[in-house]
Amino acid sequence: MKVLTVVGARPNFMKAAPIIAAINEHNERILAKFADRRERPAETIRHILVHTGQHYDDLMSGSFFSDLKLPKPDVHLGVGSGSHAVQTAEIMKKFEEVLLGEKPDVVMVVGDVNSTLACALVAAKITFDSAGSRPLIVHVEAGLRSFDRSMPEEINRILTDHVSELLFVTEESGLQNLRNEGVPPDRIHFVGNTMIDSLLAFKEKAEASIILEELGLRTQTGKKGAGNSINRYALLTLHRPTNVDNREAFLNILAGLEELATDCPIVFPVHPRTQRRIKEFGLESHLGMNGTKIKGDARDSGNRRHGIILTNPLGYLDFLCLMKHAMLVVTDSGGIQEETTCLGIPCVTVRENTERPVTVESGTNTIAGTKKESINDAIRRQKVRRTSGGVPKKWDGQAATRIVDVFIRTYHEKALSRQSLIPQTCA
Ligand code: UD1
Repeated sequence: MKVLTVVGARPNFMKAAPIIAAINEHNERILAKFADRRERPAETIRHILVHTGQHYDDLMSGSFFSDLKLPKPDVHLGVGSGSHAVQTAEIMKKFEEVLLGEKPDVVMVVGDVNSTLACALVAAKITFDSAGSRPLIVHVEAGLRSFDRSMPEEINRILTDHVSELLFVTEESGLQNLRNEGVPPDRIHFVGNTMIDSLLAFKEKAEASIILEELGLRTQTGKKGAGNSINRYALLTLHRPTNVDNREAFLNILAGLEELATDCPIVFPVHPRTQRRIKEFGLESHLGMNGTKIKGDARDSGNRRHGIILTNPLGYLDFLCLMKHAMLVVTDSGGIQEETTCLGIPCVTVRENTERPVTVESGTNTIAGTKKESINDAIRRQKVRRTSGGVPKKWDGQAATRIVDVFIRTYHEKALSRQSLIPQTCA
């Protein structure tokens, strides 16, 4: 069986890494079982990793490959940035050539970024021969819905789910959403969350990060080696176009953080889109920046006792370390709502909705909206929060193993003929 996995943007890497590791473990088990065979046993999986290049900087992509021990991509499409249409179209054009060359049995896409939809759409329409052979399409993190179609990710989620044949769901709301949309139940599998597989696998290793020292947030107490203590700090990420592409919206959010910034330092690793907007809108003084350079050291915050500490985007392990030790996280990211839930760290989501309701219902997340007052109120509440929340069902580090088990079974049951599994009519 030949499985082709697509990654493209930062949040894809931690979702795909555990599945690739589970495929490798599967292969090792099979090879050990058939050690005396000369040729490679048919049960092994040949894996191909395609990187679309939607994210291309070392800080947004390269460093994640080393932190997460991802193999080097077999194919790099190098598409880079562009409008949604240009980026999606470029990926589709280049991915079609790769598919026709590789003819995989399975195409696996993860998450909800433009690369996810572009590659699923190509795979749904391709045929490899006159018999109509085509790959099985697998979507990991299916069924999430914000019910807000102004979000590009919501469009990507809906369309990807409806062209996929195996849908792996992270939380129960996903099951319900897919059922409501008429997706046949035998395609849907509630397996847990591969992003949480990564978190659990790397949680201890993240302790070796020296980011707290670099930012001046861990201080030695007593004599050398006698111990150290971690200062109270909050962690902030903002990158959603609705929050940072409009000056007023961005300023409103910063105003909502003012009170917090007088209480403790706020570490703010700044996404490239957000860095551009800070410059373009002249917001440097609102962020307490000296000039336009991002320095990233608490000790650079001058005479102010607290304030915002800006850094460039951080690698996976450094960011995980910062999340683990934060008093509070403020974010507009999807994945961080899940990671803070798993770590038991209070999270304030600067959005009007979430496609991950389990993080609010049983986790540590609260949806604050994007207005100054509501953000400030949510921060006040979360700062004194006493309950740590619960870890959602099946977020136990085993999601990737369940996924590999299901798609091997499905492949053997249904796809040996390599005929289309997509029904001609929808239920
Ligand atoms: C994309 C995803 C979003 C995800 C986010 C994580 C879509 C529709 N959006 O948004 O769901 O939460 O990734 O970051 O797929 N840039 C760089 N270097 C890079 C990549 C991007 O400088 O390596 C800059 C470029 O100027 C680019 C901008 O960031 O125009 C935005 O990148 P893009 O991939 O278009 O969208 P994101 O905002 O990152």
